[in-house]
Amino acid sequence: MSQILTIADLKDLARRRVPKMFFDYADSGSWTESTYRANEEDFQKIKFRQRVLVDMDNRSLASTMIGEKVSMPVALAPTGMTGMQHANGEMLAAQAAEEFGVPFTLSTMSICSIEDVASVTTKPFWFQLYVLRDKDFVLNLIDRAKAAKCSALVLTLDLQILGQRHKDIRNGLSAPPKLTLTNIFDMAIRPRWCAAMAGTKRRTFRNIVGHAKGVGNMASLASWTTEQFDLHLSWKDVAWIKERWGGKLILKG
Ligand SMILES: Cc1cc2nc3c(=O)[nH]c(=O)nc-3n(C[C@H](O)[C@H](O)[C@H](O)COP(=O)(O)O)c2cc1C
Repeated sequence: MSQILTIADLKDLARRRVPKMFFDYADSGSWTESTYRANEEDFQKIKFRQRVLVDMDNRSLASTMIGEKVSMPVALAPTGMTGMQHANGEMLAAQAAEEFGVPFTLSTMSICSIEDVASVTTKPFWFQLYVLRDKDFVLNLIDRAKAAKCSALVLTLDLQILGQRHKDIRNGLSAPPKLTLTNIFDMAIRPRWCAAMAGTKRRTFRNIVGHAKGVGNMASLASWTTEQFDLHLSWKDVAWIKERWGGKLILKG
């Protein structure tokens, strides 16, 4: 596509370039997806009101978020498996955010690790934390985010139970994708994605694999969340996480 002018253009491009299971993961909601559609509809209702006869010179969207200067008050939200939408996706997104002057939030469920992202950025990014049953692993994640000089910890509160996501189940979502006939065909018709993936070693959940006890290989986000997410998450956890982190804490969800 020679000209990308709108989010819809980007979405069309992604549909063509990204294997179906990952495109669907980003473009779907739980169960009947009614909340997903309602969110989009709500945003469509918001209109800009034009103001006239005001001096338009030197207008700027620059602002501050948690005390950090930003070129506009928008942060990149954490999205799991960004590194499956495009090889090294989280590293590239963090670099783009840095160049544009907005915060980037790395998901716990990212493909590129905290250390991978830190190795290609110069400004601090934010790290999103899911609270899991394995507390040693959570403490270690917090320490790794500190060591990487992340400037905020973003604690997600609303995914202790994963909604049933029909497209993900039907597509057999996993990272890396299982080599079934359907998946092989789906990847083969997207040579650009395959070539980039072949050129990176980052193809699974690198914040977790090799760090969490007993997790040498982890493909499925759904099975990990079912087994590992701590259903007891409460304000008490916010207190110990805040203390261990010792920096800026954002509650999300
Ligand atoms: C594909 C996808 C993956 C996401 N992964 C995460 C995640 O790993 N951690 C998290 O806290 N939120 C995750 N979210 C939620 C987003 O961070 C965000 O809160 C949500 O998409 C609402 O923002 P939006 O209206 O800009 O999409 C994800 C959302 C999408 C669409």
